[in-house]
Amino acid sequence: MALQLGDIAPDFTAETTEGTINFHEWIGDSWAVLFSHPKDFTPVCTTELGYTAKLKPEFDKRGVKVIGVSVDPVSDHNEWAKDIEETQGVSLNFPLIGDPEKKVADLYGMIHPNSLDSLTVRSVFVIGPDKKIKLMITYPASTGRNFDEILRVIDSLQLTAGYQVSTPVNWNDGDDVIIAPAIDDETAKEKFPKGFKTLKPYLRLTPQPNK
Ligand code: BEZ
Repeated sequence: MALQLGDIAPDFTAETTEGTINFHEWIGDSWAVLFSHPKDFTPVCTTELGYTAKLKPEFDKRGVKVIGVSVDPVSDHNEWAKDIEETQGVSLNFPLIGDPEKKVADLYGMIHPNSLDSLTVRSVFVIGPDKKIKLMITYPASTGRNFDEILRVIDSLQLTAGYQVSTPVNWNDGDDVIIAPAIDDETAKEKFPKGFKTLKPYLRLTPQPNK
């Protein structure tokens, strides 16, 4: 059955550009982003991996480890890393899994044959320290992802894991958030001492509680 939100992310041992890893051990107490790209030495993937390497300090700040995967071998990843550095101006600073036998790709359902024959599509999995899948996004090969959006979503996932709030449309870190409808007004006053605005009984906005 296809993976769903809340499932335990399948564990595996694989070769990467930073040596052999056991996925769950590698995640440890961090959050993780596991993302697939279709093929090494291809244009969109080159830009995605370069940009992700540039964002590494932002992922670090959030306690998130990033790891990529494709069906190419680690030897190809190592060669391609030189092109990424040359064209994107940044060196690869996170591991890339070599998955020529498609073990990881199959575990995560990253091959969508009706979209792209025997290559991984652009999947993104955000995994929590509890090893559960918090987010899944899938893009076709022709569309590069927006990794700023992935950071934005991680901000929301981490916030909503710690507080009884949700984040409204187009929310960005620092914006007001929505108090969970299950909390009554009395409890909300205690939990959100900065106060809240009631637009409807089910739509109450409060300043971001961890700021
Ligand atoms: C790309 O990264 O540009 C790409 C890779 C595989 C198929 C199509 C595009």
